[in-house]
Amino acid sequence: MPSFYAGASPHKQQPYQRRRQEIRQQRKSLPIASVEKRLVDEVRKNDTLIIVGETGSGKTTQLPQFLYDGGFCQNGKVIGITQPRRVAAVTVAKRVAEECNDQLGKKVGYSIRFDDSTSNATRIKYMTDGLLLREALLDPLLSKYSVIVVDEAHERTVHTDVLLGLLKKVQHSRANASKNGKTLPDIWGHSQNLTQKACQETRCAPLKLIIMSASLDAKCFSDYFGGAKAVHIQGRQHPVDILYTYQPEPDYLDATLVTIFQIHLEEGPGDILAFLTGQEEIESLERLIYERARLLPPESSKIWTTPIYSSLPSEQQMNAFKSAPAGTRKVVLATNIAETSVTITGIKYVIDPGMVKARAYNPVTGMESLIIIPVSKAQALQRSGRAGREGPGKCFRLFQESEFDKLVDSTIPEIKRCNLSNVVLQLKALGIDDIIGFDFMEKPSRTAILKSLEQLILLGALTDDYKLSDPVGHQMARLPLDPMYSKALIVSSEFKCLEEMLIVVSMLSVESIFFCPREKLEEARAARKGFESSEGDHITLVNVYRAAAECLEKSKNANAKERTMEKALNRWCKENFINNRSLKHALDVHSQIQGHVQQMGLNLSSCGDDMALFRRCLTAAFFLNAAMRQPDGSYRALATGQSVQIHPSSVLFRTKPDCVIFNELVRTTQNYVKNLTRIDPLWLAELAPQYYATED
Ligand code: CDP
Ligand code: MG
Repeated sequence: MPSFYAGASPHKQQPYQRRRQEIRQQRKSLPIASVEKRLVDEVRKNDTLIIVGETGSGKTTQLPQFLYDGGFCQNGKVIGITQPRRVAAVTVAKRVAEECNDQLGKKVGYSIRFDDSTSNATRIKYMTDGLLLREALLDPLLSKYSVIVVDEAHERTVHTDVLLGLLKKVQHSRANASKNGKTLPDIWGHSQNLTQKACQETRCAPLKLIIMSASLDAKCFSDYFGGAKAVHIQGRQHPVDILYTYQPEPDYLDATLVTIFQIHLEEGPGDILAFLTGQEEIESLERLIYERARLLPPESSKIWTTPIYSSLPSEQQMNAFKSAPAGTRKVVLATNIAETSVTITGIKYVIDPGMVKARAYNPVTGMESLIIIPVSKAQALQRSGRAGREGPGKCFRLFQESEFDKLVDSTIPEIKRCNLSNVVLQLKALGIDDIIGFDFMEKPSRTAILKSLEQLILLGALTDDYKLSDPVGHQMARLPLDPMYSKALIVSSEFKCLEEMLIVVSMLSVESIFFCPREKLEEARAARKGFESSEGDHITLVNVYRAAAECLEKSKNANAKERTMEKALNRWCKENFINNRSLKHALDVHSQIQGHVQQMGLNLSSCGDDMALFRRCLTAAFFLNAAMRQPDGSYRALATGQSVQIHPSSVLFRTKPDCVIFNELVRTTQNYVKNLTRIDPLWLAELAPQYYATED
C-alpha cells in the first residue's frame, strides 16, 4: 500500500505564514491605516504636528513605520519615539520588529534605562522620555534624529514636560543652524562649532516633532508650539455601560474583590481589568482572589489572575497580554500603567476604584511623598474606555456618580507636584543655566525651583553661584538616579563602603522586598528576623541581598544552568518570605548601576563588618532626611519640622531610637517614614556641617 505525506495546501499554512498573514490583516484593519498618506504628507508639511487618536487606533506601532516608508530615515537618520513607561517602549518595539519581520535590535529597537536593545542599524527607536533627555547630554542637537515622536504626551510626566521644552529649543537651533551655515548660534549658553559635515546633516534634516496621545488637550499643546496643527484619527470604540455604586465603598480593595466574583458568576464571557494603586495592593488582592476562587462551585469556570505594574520585570508583565485558556477568565490586576500605554486584548469588564498613587510635593518643606488620591475625570474615562476595545463592555466604578462629578477634570502635570532636583540637575548639565526662565509648558512654582537649587547646593552638585560643580555635579548628572542616591554612591566611595551603598540603592529602587501573606504572618515575621539588623532597615536590606547573592553563587558552583539558578533563587525566596519579583528587579538594577559606577572610576570597596562606618556614611548621604524622637514618641523631621511616625514595616518600629535617617515619606492618615537607620545625632553636625553646624 502506498504511503502518503501532506503536501503544501492553502488550507494548511505553516504557523509562520499564518502569523505573517494575521499581522498583515491586523495592520490593515487599524483605523490609522486609512490615513497613512495624509499623515506622512502632514509631517512633510509641518515641523510640529499633534496627533490625537483613541488607544488602539495604531498610532504608536504604525506611524513610525509610515514615516520610515515615507523616507524619513534617509542618510541613516533615526525616528525616535518616546514613551513615559518602560513597558510600553519594550512591548511596542517587540511588536513593531515582528511586524517588520525583523529581529529586535536591528531596524527596530528600544532603549530604556538599564536596558539597550539597539544597534547601528536601528532606524525606529522606542525609548523612554527620560532616556532621550540623557541622550541630549551627549548630543545637544539630537542630530541623529530626523523625527521625534513624543507619545502619550497627555500623561504629562515630568520627563515629558522637560523634554517638550528641550525639543522646542532643539528645533529652533537646528532651524537656525541650517540658515546660518557653519557656526551655530549660542544654543545652550555656550557657543558650539559644528564640523561642516555635521552642519550639512543638520541642515538637510530639520527636526520634525510629533506630539501624540489618546486624550490630549490639543489646544494647550498647539499653543505652546506656536499654533501647531492638530490631526484627529477616528478610533473604534464600542459602547461601554458605566455602573456606579449606590453607597460609598470605604474599603475599595474589598469592593474590588467582591466585584470580580460578582462579574465572574453573573456576567457573560470576557476578561476583567481592575485598576489598583500599587504592587502591594495588587499582590494582596491576588492572594485573596486565589483563596476565594478555591471556594467556587466545581461547575463554574476558573479564574486566572495576572498582575501588571511598572516595577514588574517585563517578561512577567507580558503574561497579562496572553489569552486565558478555554473555560478560564483572565483577571488583570493593574496600576494606571494599563490606562493608556498598553493594549490588553480580551478585556470586557473594567473595575475602577477611582484611586491612584501619585507623587506629591510640598515646595515649602521640600519633601516629596507618595499619596493615594482620587483619579481625574480624564483618567476615569480612559479606564472605562479599556472595556470597549473589542466589543461592548461594562465599567464598574466603585464610587457614586456624585463623586465622579467632583473629580478634577485632568491630572495635574507631575512637574507641578514633584521634587525638581533631578530636573534642575539635568537642565544644568545640558548647559541651561536660567532654570526659572526656561520655557516650560507649565511652569513649576518659583518656590519649588528655588528649593531644588538649594537642595542641590547642599548635596554639593551645584556651587554657591548655581554652577554644576566639578566633579561631583557632573558625576551626579551622569548617574540615572535621584540626586540624593547619586550623591550617596559618591559619598560611599569616600567612606569605602560603595559595595554596601550600591546594594542599598538597588534595593530601595524596588517596592516591597519582604513578602508578608496575611495567612502566614507569623512565619513571615520569623523569616525576616533572620535578616534583621537592630541598626535599621538599610543594613537589613544588605543582609537580604547578600544572602540571595550567596544562594545564587552556590547554585552557580554546581555548574547549574540559568534556569536552575532561577529555580534555586525562587525556592530561596519562598522559604525566606522574600518577594522574588522585587528581588530580581533589584539584582538587575544593581548590575546596571554597578556598570555606571565602574565607568566613573569609583572605588568599589566594602566596609566589611564595620557597620558604624556604614551608618556614618548613610548619615553623610541622607542628612536631609533626618528625624529626632519627640517626648510623645513621634518624630520630627529636622529639615522640614514635619511630625512623622515610623512606618510599621520598619525594623525600628518598636525600638524607636533617638535619631534616625530615612528614605521615604508616605502620607496616608498621617506622615510615615520608611527605610530607616539609627544614627548618633552628633554625627549630623560632624558629617553635614554645611547644614547642621551651629555657629558658636
Ligand atoms: O498607539 P495606539 O494606542 O493608537 O495603538 P498601538 O499601540 O499602535 O496598537 C495598535 C494595535 O496593535 C493594538 O490594538 C493591538 O492589536 C496591536 N498591538 C499588539 O498586538 N501588541 C502590541 N504590543 C502593541 C500593539
Ligand atoms: Mg500608543
